[in-house]
Amino acid sequence: MLNHKLVLRCFEKQFGHKKCSLYTSPGRINLIGEHTDYNGGFVLPAAIDKCMSVAICKNGTDTINVYSMDFKQRLAIPIDGPKPEEQWACYIFGVVSEMKKRGAQPGGFDCVFGGDVPLGAGMSSSAALESVFGYAINDQFKLGFKREDLAKIGQMTEHNYVGVRCGIMDQFASLFGKDGHVIRLDCRSLKYKRFPFNPRGYKVVLIDTMVKHTLASSEYNVRRAQCEEGVATIAKDHPGVELLRDVTPKMLESYRDKLDPMVFKRCSYVVYEDKRLLDGCRDLNKGDLKAFGKKMFATHDGLSKDYGVSCEELDFIVDIARKNEGVIGARMMGGGFGGCVISIVKTGAYKGYIEDVKKAYIKKFGKDPRVINVVISDGVKKWNLRKIK
Ligand code: GLA
Repeated sequence: MLNHKLVLRCFEKQFGHKKCSLYTSPGRINLIGEHTDYNGGFVLPAAIDKCMSVAICKNGTDTINVYSMDFKQRLAIPIDGPKPEEQWACYIFGVVSEMKKRGAQPGGFDCVFGGDVPLGAGMSSSAALESVFGYAINDQFKLGFKREDLAKIGQMTEHNYVGVRCGIMDQFASLFGKDGHVIRLDCRSLKYKRFPFNPRGYKVVLIDTMVKHTLASSEYNVRRAQCEEGVATIAKDHPGVELLRDVTPKMLESYRDKLDPMVFKRCSYVVYEDKRLLDGCRDLNKGDLKAFGKKMFATHDGLSKDYGVSCEELDFIVDIARKNEGVIGARMMGGGFGGCVISIVKTGAYKGYIEDVKKAYIKKFGKDPRVINVVISDGVKKWNLRKIK
């Protein structure tokens, strides 16, 4: 957890006073249901104990004065000015602009932000940033947005100011997460249900390949377009089909020869992943973690072979996991092309598994993978400063 005092001290250093409020919003894990959100399907994420923090106060002007602790850079961004050149600043400018589009009138503010969500590791550092700013600005200026609106504002910031046509999973998890619970979210209706997830005798661990997903934004948009192409063809015969969510495995099968083979493969992954998630939730309800874990491995195969968003390093770690009886399930997590493998491991097998992966990975790729232990935690919040000091 990032030291809150550090953020507050940095605010004081930057702006010469202490009169600010502190907000945090976390990154997320996702147990199963990858690349299903923008296809209207289901996901099963949870917020974690790694978050973005912002210390903020209104400044009575039309300018955002912002200091990034990670980039060690301070900018003055006019609210009504052009989009900033710095990518990190686009997230903040984007959130404010999306709020304005919806009729709100946030003013200027002074702020400092930093965090401990690893960047580019598929743990949604950017959604954590959008969510913490969305929540903080909404609260400071009493704009009246609901959490669901803030999730959409964050998602549209990615679409319109960052250029990634993402789904809503990450922002939703960051805003709606709850200690010890995963969220089964229907990404079409945004109806959700929280389930306790704290399997005794098991650990959830992330292993970061340290491969930064540079291809992620462009290829991500390509995958989304391929799904849309599949839907457009199927919808000609089935007018009720709006998203891949509406396509059954049987229906898809009848399009094997009518769709471009690559488009067919992409759609096939998504249609089966949706089914896997719903079956997986049944496994969890029955307490059958083993059956659930098998589905995680199947998801990895689909993401790697059919959806084409894995990479050699991710596949390598999942293969080691598969051979270890103490690992119940493992798969790449998030958008892909690098980032983390999420594994559910028996507590007794944890140490050996990590040692095996590290040794083999260093031998093969000449670099040390990063091990990230996560605790499922609460979503966005405002802190009581008296409790921190
Ligand atoms: C990224 C996106 C999400 C989701 C995942 C893949 O994290 O931001 O909306 O599509 O990839 O499941």
